[in-house]
Parts: sequence; C-alpha cells; structure tokens
Amino acid sequence: MSEDKKTFYITTPIYYPSADLHIGHTYCTVMADALARFKRAAGYDVRFLTGTDEHGQKIQTIAEKNGVTPQAYVDEVVSRIKELWDTMEISYDDFIRTTEERHVKRVQDIFMKMHAKGDIYKSEYEGLYCTPCESFWTEVQAADGKCPDCGRPVEKAKEEAYFFRISKYQDRLLDLLENNPNFLQPESRRNEMINFVKQGLEDLCISRSTFEWGIKVPIDEKHVIYVWLDALTNYITALGYPDIPELYERYWPGVHLVGKEIVRFHSIIWPAILMSLDLPLPKHVLGHGWILLEGGKMSKSRGNVVDPVTLINRYGIDALKYFLLREYTFGQDGLYTNEVMLNRLNYDLANDLGNLVNRVIAMIEKYDGGIVPAEGEKEGTDAELIEMAVNAAERVEAHMDKFGFNLALEEIWKLIRRTNKYIDETAPWVLAKDESLKGRLDTVMHNLAESIRIVSVLINPFLHNTSEKIREQLGIAGEPVDWQDTKKFSIMTGKRVKKGDPIFPRLDIDKELAELEAMTAEQMRIAKEKAEKDAAQAKGGNSKKSDAKAGESGKPQITIDDFDKIELRVGEIISCKKHPKADRLLVSQVKIGEETRQIVSGVAEFYSPEDMEGKRVVVAANLKPAKLRGEASQGMILFADNGDRLEFVTTDAPDGGLVK
Ligand code: ME8
Repeated sequence: MSEDKKTFYITTPIYYPSADLHIGHTYCTVMADALARFKRAAGYDVRFLTGTDEHGQKIQTIAEKNGVTPQAYVDEVVSRIKELWDTMEISYDDFIRTTEERHVKRVQDIFMKMHAKGDIYKSEYEGLYCTPCESFWTEVQAADGKCPDCGRPVEKAKEEAYFFRISKYQDRLLDLLENNPNFLQPESRRNEMINFVKQGLEDLCISRSTFEWGIKVPIDEKHVIYVWLDALTNYITALGYPDIPELYERYWPGVHLVGKEIVRFHSIIWPAILMSLDLPLPKHVLGHGWILLEGGKMSKSRGNVVDPVTLINRYGIDALKYFLLREYTFGQDGLYTNEVMLNRLNYDLANDLGNLVNRVIAMIEKYDGGIVPAEGEKEGTDAELIEMAVNAAERVEAHMDKFGFNLALEEIWKLIRRTNKYIDETAPWVLAKDESLKGRLDTVMHNLAESIRIVSVLINPFLHNTSEKIREQLGIAGEPVDWQDTKKFSIMTGKRVKKGDPIFPRLDIDKELAELEAMTAEQMRIAKEKAEKDAAQAKGGNSKKSDAKAGESGKPQITIDDFDKIELRVGEIISCKKHPKADRLLVSQVKIGEETRQIVSGVAEFYSPEDMEGKRVVVAANLKPAKLRGEASQGMILFADNGDRLEFVTTDAPDGGLVK
C-alpha cells in the first residue's frame, strides 16, 4: 500500500466480556465495519480496531460467581465474541484484549508519562461509586443517589488512590467542544458535554485498591489502574504507542464510534489523557443511539436481549446488517421488534432487490441467450435511469460523510426501485413480441444489467456477500469491485449472465413471527433460570464443599451440636430508622428480654421503618457484632426469603425467649 494514501482509523468500543454480546453491540460493530469498507472502497488506507475490555471489579465478581479465574472467564467469552465477528465477516484489522501483554505494558508506560508530567498525584478518594459502570460520581452528579449513566444506586466509597489532574485541562476541553463542531457528533451530545464541563471537572480517581483484577500501578503495586484509563488507551496501545510507533504514526488520530452512554468518557476523559501525553486528539467521537426493546433497554441479566446469532442463522449475515444499517437513524434511539425487522427483509431485500435481480437475469437469458447486448435504440426514459445510476455514488458519499448509513442505503434503494419501475415502463415482454423492436429491447436489457452492476458496487461496503452473489449472476464475479465504476455505464456488453438461487427468499411473516417468539420465549426462560441459579449461588457465598448431603438451599447438613452453637431469641422491634448512609439498610432497636440491641438489616427495599416497629421477630443473638456502613449491629433479624421478597418470621412468644 502506498505511503501517501490518506489514512482512516476507525474504532468500536472495546466491549466488556461479561456476557455474550447482543444486537446492540452488533449494531455498533456493523456500522464501524460498513464505514471501514466504505473508506477502503474510496481509496483510503484504513485501519479498523475492535477488542475487549477485560479488567475491573465487574468481571472479577462475575468470574468469582462462576467459580473460575477472571482470565479463564474472559478467555471463554472473548472466544465467542471473536466467533461472532468472524461469522459476520467483520473486517477488523486488529482485535485488542486489555489483558494482553502488549497492552498492559503500554498502559503502565502511559501512566508513568502522565505521572512524570505532574498530572498524577496520590490522595484519598471519597465519593459515590457505581460498580456496574465502574464510575465515580460527585454528590452533584448523583444527587438522587443514582448513577447518571445507568440509573442504578451508587454507594459511598473511600480509599487511598491516585488522581489525574483533569481539572488542569478544563479550559482546553471546553475549547475543544465549543470550537470544533465536528469533533463530537451528533450535536445534541455536544451540548450535553459542554454543560458537563462547564459544571466544573473534579480530578479523576484513576486507581483502585479494593480489588485486584487490573493493571498494577507501576510505582505502587497495591493499586490497579482504573479500568477506564486502562480501556481508553487501547486506541493507541493497539497502534504500538509508545514503544513501536510505526502504526501509531501512520494512523493516529482516529475516529471513535461509541454508544451514547460512553460519550462522556470519549469526549472528555480521553482527550484530557491525550492532552496530558501531548498527543493529537481524536478526529471525531461519534455517539450512536440505543436499540431499545418494547420493555426498555436490553439487559442480559433480565434475559431480554435480541441474540444476533439467532437472526444470522435464520436470515443470513447480510439480512441482519441491512436491517441494522437501514432501520436506525444515527445518533437516535430506535425500537427493535421482530415485525419491523421482518418487514424490512421482505420489502426491501426480497421484493425490491431480490426480485429485480431475478427478473433481469431471467429476461437476459430468455431474450438474449444470457449475453448482455450492446445498446440499441434509446428513448427518453433511459436518460432518467442512467442519470440516477451514475450519480448515486456521489449521493451515497455525501450521506456517508455525515455517517447517515440509513440515508446512504435509501439512496441505493431509490435506484433499485427506479430500475424496477423502468422494467414496468419499458415492458420488455411486449418489445420481445415484435422483432422490429429488438434494438429497443437490447437497450432496455443493457441498461438493466448496467444498473444492477452499479447496485452491486454501491452495496458492496454494506452487504458484500449479496454484492458478490449479484456479480456472480451478472458474470463478473472475479472482476475487481471498483467504486469508480459506479460512474460508468458501458461495462456489461458481452457479459454472460447466469441465474442463481434467489438472493433473498420471501418470508412468511406470520410464520416467522410465531417462530421467533417461540425462540425468544425459550431464550428468556434459559436466561431467567441462569440468573436465578447465579443469585442462589451468590447468596450461598463460597461455602466449602462438604461430603454431607446438601439441603435444598445448597447448604451442607449440620449436626445438632452445630445447631446448638446458634443462639436464637425472640425480640421486639421497638423503634427503627433508615440508615443514614445506605439506602438499602434499616437500623432497628430490638428489645430482647432485659436488653436492647441495635441491629442493622438489609430490607429497606421491602419495608419502611414503620413496618418494622412493633414486630416480634426471631434474632440470631450470638452473631459476632459488626459495623455496617458505620452503624453497629449486634445480631441479625431473621427473614424468610420467598424468592421475590423477604418476609418477617414473627412469633407470639414474649421477647427474650430462647428459640430451640
Ligand atoms: O461500555 N443499543 O462496554 P460494553 C446500541 N467496555 N448499542 C449498544 C446497546 C444497545 N442497546 N448496548 C450496547 C463498555 N451497545 C466499555 C467500553 S471503550 C474504551 C470501553 C454498544 O460492553 C454501544 O456501542 O458495555 C455501547 O457503547 C457499547 O456497546 C457498550 O459496550
């Protein structure tokens, strides 16, 4: 590849291998793939990076739950992620895993560079932490006690940590966002981020010491580097920065395609890291919208996800890609339903495109023995078709410049529909009946073959398999697919066409809907079962295996002596209040005979303090006293777990009595 070619570097988020990927991740990767292929077709020297974000507390916890090491856990999920991209023929040039040595070492180098610059210092962190998002928030940002990104409860956390002096870059960040309208797209995201920076940036905590699954801080092995610093830098470590700069120098800066919920990390934190390293900033951060289900956002743990593999197995790669690229408007959220998807496949792919190819090849075989004729007599209607066909590429390019995948495809489909209309207008079956009209029939067949050929080039970056299938039927399978050929209209004369299988068979929508529903119900049942099993395991903790026969809860059998060790007493809850620091906890004063004890219980999601007061309950009284989020707890009030909620275990016996 020549050195002076314009380069284009495109990245997807590196996904968490916490579970198999769903159609939302597929959407982002399919867009990146289409963009990479499109730029390659336009003559760019393209590099397309994807990968997986494998460190952090979330992964460590999931691995523990599954009883395997974090590395074994991620290896397994990552192999399925790679399999998915291979099945979908995603044309990535590199796949980075953050557990790879090449990445780990470079992240440490980057940390040290920022440290040497004076941008990293050690202090103590006290803030609100969202574990699922691995994000710290300030009191202002999480004012309602919920994570602004995912809406789940945040918890107070305090630890010694390293900080990134991001505040130092606040003015430059504001300048970047305000004065470079193309840096962050779409516009609505840009305004959100400007407001975010204007609120003031607090220095960012960039190390953790409460778990181990991460890259060690080189100067302080008790700490691991914050997973987002680890993750964001993948975009340059994968290019060899800082030690093998060749690819870095050739491709950086790049374009980041990400979902809207991580735009903040990419348009504020990531540029600040680059500023600290004195490196160029990304060319663009493109924030796409979410694919939603009727019940809201997809969630693997709730079992409501759309599995791309099911759709690929049933309808093919190109059908799924077409649907994702055509249905949703870049930057906006969109709804997924099986019906919308099936209608797209039937109308656009089977009816419009599939039918067109079928009809044209059949006619050339019937009227011209399969050889595309040279043009004969022309008529006014030809010019309109030709004009539309040879100019389509330019219109597609204009949309792709603005990441309008759906509009680019719509432009191609306008040509497909116009070509279908041309068949109806010219009625070749009538021309074929009159020998004196053969010249006219030749022109029509020629124009149809040319138009389909142009379509085959235009769809190539989006649906390369379909493009190949059409080119096979047109007798040009081995020839290079050159984007510039979309502007020519005289290539097909003399080519031998050959009918193949229909490229998109028509679907029986009702039947497909029923089948998909049955499959989804089955998948949800399996996911629910798994979630319940995981929850039960999590409650059971890491209890050691015992030879004794386990009861239904999974706990081992115990002897009467074991049981005798537990002191259960009747207590009366005489007062109760909310825990001052933890939403999920209640703090009760429990009278047990002569004595009154304070006991903390994790039941605030089921009961108010008023519900608790006056209840006569069973208490595990000889439990070792503990402090729960700063409040002393001397014992445990027993509850019965009925799966959905915790019920009181009440009794009429007077308080103080021993339960045995
Ligand atoms: O956030 N609709 O990883 P992740 C559309 N590891 N896109 C969706 C989607 C949906 N319903 N659900 C997910 C992470 N996505 C970090 C990234 S990058 C340095 C680190 C897509 O596995 C979307 O692109 O949670 C989103 O940003 C990404 O998957 C999040 O993937």
